[in-house]
Amino acid sequence: MNTDERRFIFQDLRSVEGYIDPPDALVFKALLQAQTKDGLEGGMAEIGVYYGRSYFLLRKFAQPQEKVLGVDLFELDPPLDGSLDQYDRLMENGRRLGFEMDRDLIIKGDSTRLAAADITCRTGPVRFFSIDGGHHLHHVLADAKLALEVIAPHGVIVFDDTFNPAWPEVTVGVADFLRTHGHSLVCFAMTKYKTYVCRREFHALYAGAIAAGDELQALDHVETQFLGSRVVRLHNPTRRRVMYELMVRSGLGGFSERIYRSKVKQVKESVAGT
Ligand SMILES: C[S@@+](CC[C@H](N)C(=O)[O-])C[C@H]1O[C@@H](n2cnc3c(N)ncnc32)[C@H](O)[C@@H]1O
Repeated sequence: MNTDERRFIFQDLRSVEGYIDPPDALVFKALLQAQTKDGLEGGMAEIGVYYGRSYFLLRKFAQPQEKVLGVDLFELDPPLDGSLDQYDRLMENGRRLGFEMDRDLIIKGDSTRLAAADITCRTGPVRFFSIDGGHHLHHVLADAKLALEVIAPHGVIVFDDTFNPAWPEVTVGVADFLRTHGHSLVCFAMTKYKTYVCRREFHALYAGAIAAGDELQALDHVETQFLGSRVVRLHNPTRRRVMYELMVRSGLGGFSERIYRSKVKQVKESVAGT
């Protein structure tokens, strides 16, 4: 990972209020870069952009010609003191991080009411679709159906908050969706927070990208099964999560990425004196 990417993931993203943590940010990066390396192009989309933390991660790894669409109700935290509302904070965060913010690529509204064409007319077929909007069963099923309608053959769909006891219907929705579409879709990876899905023909490619991802070597790769497919569960030990939080809270955020370097890499870097 180059210095600019490292700074973006471990520092810039933290300046945006939101939820994606380093392991998932590194998985997004590995998958997006594997697609680019293999010439698998396409737009990207996220339902539930909040203030943009994972949306800007997609922007960071999009190619110049690729469009990244964000969808949100933008009804959170109505400010009482005249400060920026959710939509304006998203736009402001984007400009601060150096992205051009196109209003046509940020849809304000209920994702469950969108048609596939509302997305594809803006992005074309989608190579990476992140679902992190409404967390009830009808939201998850509607968002998953929409994602399936707009993804390119090589598209990845990522569900947030799966297996989180706080949001049980997300898990039910993802299981229902995969059981309905199991002839064509498979899960290939899981983290503490997210579940990653693609078409069967691309399972090997994405599983391989995760197995080989340099920055993912610091995580434990544990093989499991989910609804008929082989899945790698990326486990981030509690001690590392606690250490990361402590470093961030004590103002050592700039160094926090070091704890996500693999042991092999740490040894190589100390030998090289970097
Ligand atoms: C957990 S936050 C998303 C976090 C974000 N992905 C991040 O990286 O920080 C969930 C977002 O989904 C949005 N949301 C909830 N229901 C929605 C719906 N039906 N349509 C569109 N957005 C929705 C909320 O407004 C909220 O901003």
